[in-house]
Amino acid sequence: MARKVPIGVLISGSGTNLQAIIDAIEANKLDATIQLVLSNRADAYGLMRAKNHGIPAEVLDHKNFTSREAFDAAAVETLKSRGVELVILAGFMRLLSPVFVKAFSNRMMNIHPSLLPSFPGLHVQRRAVEHGVRFSGCTVHFVNEDCDEGPIIIQAVVPVFPEDTEETLAARILTQEHRIYPRAIQLYSEGRLRVEGRKVFVDGLTKEETQALLQPPLEG
Ligand code: GRF
Repeated sequence: MARKVPIGVLISGSGTNLQAIIDAIEANKLDATIQLVLSNRADAYGLMRAKNHGIPAEVLDHKNFTSREAFDAAAVETLKSRGVELVILAGFMRLLSPVFVKAFSNRMMNIHPSLLPSFPGLHVQRRAVEHGVRFSGCTVHFVNEDCDEGPIIIQAVVPVFPEDTEETLAARILTQEHRIYPRAIQLYSEGRLRVEGRKVFVDGLTKEETQALLQPPLEG
């Protein structure tokens, strides 16, 4: 039987990515165990999702800490005390200090709803629609000390249409987020991710020619 990597999932809100990870584990498609769901907000719906599946969940309210570093140190302590090896940021709406990043170097992933390095930061679906790009998507990357900058593990591409709104594009991207996050964690669990500088190599992949995507497509 494959090793089950002990993960901690950090959330601030709805937790649909958390749900996708739970579902993949329960379907035996992901060799991981969720040791802890940690939220910085008591009203995060994701806490309910954890409860519904009997997964330990805690709230660490950042407002109770005097500095970002103090909050981060407490979060690291909590995750380590639960035996967490890999930290999964899933809609965790806080910037991380070096205290946190160093404690889980190459052992912390984030998901971002754009094709990084395009559109880092906030409101990225709206910015993609306003810019008129033909494609956007989502990115799972290792977390380093610069926001949305770490080595890229996997990306999914979706088309963007001129009629799109922030909401329609966000929904199209979210569907793909739910596919690629469990996949990235599984690759880690199988020990197949190797980080060299900015690049992440995936061991055991057969290189196949993938077709170029065009939007709008060629006709005739
Ligand atoms: C997702 O769009 C994710 O890419 C971003 O925050 C959102 C979280 O959604 N980092 P959910 O809480 O997983 O539903």
